[in-house]
Amino acid sequence: MKDLIATAARILHHARHPIFLSGAGISAESGIPTFRGSEGLWKNYRAEELATPEAFARDPHLVWQWYNWRKERIAQCKPNPAHYAAAELKKLLPELLCVTQNVDGFHALAGLSEVLEMHGNIYRTRCLSCKTVTENRTEITPTTPCPACGKVPLRPDVVWFGEILPRQVMDVIYARLQIADAILVVGTSGTVYPAAGFAVEVRRRRGTVIEINTDAAHRPYADDIYLHGKAGEILPAIVDELRRLS
Ligand code: OAD
Repeated sequence: MKDLIATAARILHHARHPIFLSGAGISAESGIPTFRGSEGLWKNYRAEELATPEAFARDPHLVWQWYNWRKERIAQCKPNPAHYAAAELKKLLPELLCVTQNVDGFHALAGLSEVLEMHGNIYRTRCLSCKTVTENRTEITPTTPCPACGKVPLRPDVVWFGEILPRQVMDVIYARLQIADAILVVGTSGTVYPAAGFAVEVRRRRGTVIEINTDAAHRPYADDIYLHGKAGEILPAIVDELRRLS
């Protein structure tokens, strides 16, 4: 493992256009359940059954209950060493393009301000009428009025299954994927597109794929470097190695 970590650090150190991509696994050590882990179900619903425009149209109360529960759970947790290591990584590698699928805002809380939240942020709402996006940490219901226009309902400012991802964010990511020579993928099952395709794209262009994941059986990208273990242990070790190289 030590050698693999050193190799990963060397590759990142020499990469000219590296990408960092995180998923729910990076927040697992903070106590936030992953989507496809053992605690991934809420009241027996899978994310795919609740995080859709159809689910919201059918039962906005249920969908808001789920988001309120998740917001409360996240509010009780805090960033872990993996989030802080990611922020350090960006300082050591200014060219690193940081992307997350997570909506918990923990990367920013840990000091990584330049992170593209490709699935949005759970602490923002968007008005279905006037489209105003507002930061909102309180409990929301379908009758909570929009602070801008007073109409209802508000929805979470997140990307749901079947929806288009934010154009500006995706333009930046796709531009980088054209030239990326390395990608570090942390704590994602690689089941939800388009994020699941990023590593494949980097590899297709002969870039190196480095993955950190606790699942021993998880090798979806025929990756070059698979670091099997906890992000909160492995990412700080990569940062230590990078400091030695800098
Ligand atoms: P998943 O729950 O699908 O996958 C989490 C991954 O993290 C799994 O592969 C775990 O093995 C791994 N993991 C767990 N603990 C870890 C740790 N301590 N260190 C490293 N790895 C660990 O979560 P995502 O891949 O992020 O989308 O899910 C992708 C998207 O599906 C989410 O953004 C969300 C979800 O439905 C939407 O809601 C649109």
